[in-house]
Amino acid sequence: MTGLFREEIIEEIRGRVDIVDYVGEYVNLRKQGNSFVGNCPFHADKTPSFHVTPENGLFYCFGCGVGGDIFSFAMKIENLDFPQAVEKLAQRAGVNLVRQAVSRQQQEHLDRLNRIREINREAALYFFANLRAGEGKAARAYLQSRGVNKESQRVFALGFAPGGSNLLQLHLGQKGIQQEEMLAAGLVIKRDDGRVIDRFRDRLMFPITDVRGRVVGFGGRLLGPGEPKYLNTPETQVFHKKSLLYGLHLALPAIRQEKTVILVEGYLDVIALHQHQLTNAVASLGTAFTPEHGRLIKRYAREVILLFDSDEAGRKATDRAIEIFREQGLQVKIAALPGAKDPDEFLQIYGRKAFLNALAKALPIIPYRLQRLKSEMSLDEPGSKSALLAQLFPDLAKLSGQVERQEYVRLLAQELNLPEKAIWDDFRRNQGEQRRKYPLLRDKSPEIRNNTIGNKNVNSFRNPYLIAQENMIKLLLKEPKLVFQVEQRLGSDVFADKRCQEVFFLIKTLLESRTGEPVTIADLVNHAPESVKNFIAKLSSLDSLPLGERQIEDTITSLQLRYLEEQVEQKQQQIKEAEAAKDSSGRQNLLQEIINLQRKIQSLK
Ligand code: GTP
Ligand code: MN
Repeated sequence: MTGLFREEIIEEIRGRVDIVDYVGEYVNLRKQGNSFVGNCPFHADKTPSFHVTPENGLFYCFGCGVGGDIFSFAMKIENLDFPQAVEKLAQRAGVNLVRQAVSRQQQEHLDRLNRIREINREAALYFFANLRAGEGKAARAYLQSRGVNKESQRVFALGFAPGGSNLLQLHLGQKGIQQEEMLAAGLVIKRDDGRVIDRFRDRLMFPITDVRGRVVGFGGRLLGPGEPKYLNTPETQVFHKKSLLYGLHLALPAIRQEKTVILVEGYLDVIALHQHQLTNAVASLGTAFTPEHGRLIKRYAREVILLFDSDEAGRKATDRAIEIFREQGLQVKIAALPGAKDPDEFLQIYGRKAFLNALAKALPIIPYRLQRLKSEMSLDEPGSKSALLAQLFPDLAKLSGQVERQEYVRLLAQELNLPEKAIWDDFRRNQGEQRRKYPLLRDKSPEIRNNTIGNKNVNSFRNPYLIAQENMIKLLLKEPKLVFQVEQRLGSDVFADKRCQEVFFLIKTLLESRTGEPVTIADLVNHAPESVKNFIAKLSSLDSLPLGERQIEDTITSLQLRYLEEQVEQKQQQIKEAEAAKDSSGRQNLLQEIINLQRKIQSLK
């Protein structure tokens, strides 16, 4: 995604920076056929698995799966965000970003966003001053009672919103800020009777900043009991709960250094951790963690430690967060704080040393689940161990490597006092059943996503349907125009895999938007999100046969076949469900559909 920069600028930079020269500054590259290879700078690589293909300007590592274009490389190797990477490479290429930066329309949009942030900053200064004035007395006492020292109050720029209904409005008005602008910033509310009142009244104020430290909104806490305990800025043009993290700006230096983020639930937990020199802590804004949060964190860190409240809600939140962050490829650990309801309380009662101890004992996903399951069920009863194992198999399946899986099977064998072989047998049987039961789930296994094509390390998860989809995308990357033929013959539902789907639609939309002009891999990469860039880099760095009519025909037919077979499997599953529900006419219809599908399959073979 090019975001704020015009596509032409990105293109110009790309054209001027030689990827082999640039990457060559970090990696010792050696020519091999049409590409260059070297040891991957992103993982401990003993065999050269890192490929750079100057022809399409992409790199890809077959060892760790990292890949993309020059901008992705700069982002990863220097820990930059996209605009920073563009700046850096523009400098190198001698492209002037200012001269041709943004269109007028975009500039107006940027000005609007800046204005909202400026207004938020004014409000933060106002709240900040109030906390230190006469009105702030009760709030100061409250903070003291919660153990938030003066230094933390300053670092987090805490403030106080006094009780009147329009004090903030009066203050901002004096600064020349219009009511409409206050509304756009979410600082005031328009009531049904038309009156406009301050949103935050009589609350302790926590300014919320973006990753660059600009104030974009607030959380406001009641000083005493009452509902709602916290009030947040509503969604505005600069305040998006699903992609903001409380404390991230302050935590960045430590996160960059340690490559680890501590995730907690509450604002006050973040502040308590920072106050105890654990400055890589952040929290969501009271909502569940999202994939956007995951992507944001992944720019700076490799690992997250989840440190949620020790109640049932905290455990549920932990389970959801595990899924989100694992899906993003982050390493996940879970820490427990026994004897306290949350991290803040734990630090107050037991102090920093005990806290560090608890952090050091944080467990990866499988040991964490094992521990939880063991505490919930008795292992003495017959069958209980295999019931427990069955609950762990999905986690085992989602591990990204076979070596890691072996280690965990060994651990499970020890912990449950079972032979390793028995666990492997059960695991394989269980995976087989899962695949028959939920054919579409197969695509979710990282094994499949990472290891299917061009990898010598072929394993039991190879999925012919996925391979057919990826082969088709490979073909489309070489010959984008074929999308229309593919769509006409197979429809657009043939892609069940999310990334294949994304590339397919990307090619199609690009072609449709530019009447006649060809679409290149660089175009696609320009418009693709980072994860898809990586996928494109992977597929296009694989050697493939020269394109002939025959190959095109085979690829289409094979995808069609696999897709139809997938349909049959799904119908078979539905038949079982219909049988269970004693729905005999439903069953009859499904049977007929299967027969039709089988006929089509026969005719293609
Ligand atoms: P204390 O309860 O004072 O210790 O604050 P806390 O920050 O630790 O809050 P808590 O653990 O109760 O809740 C975690 C987070 O959920 C808070 O920091 C808020 O972001 C959010 N939250 C809690 N209560 C509410 C509420 O009533 N409304 C909204 N919108 N968010 C809330
Ligand atoms: Mn709390």
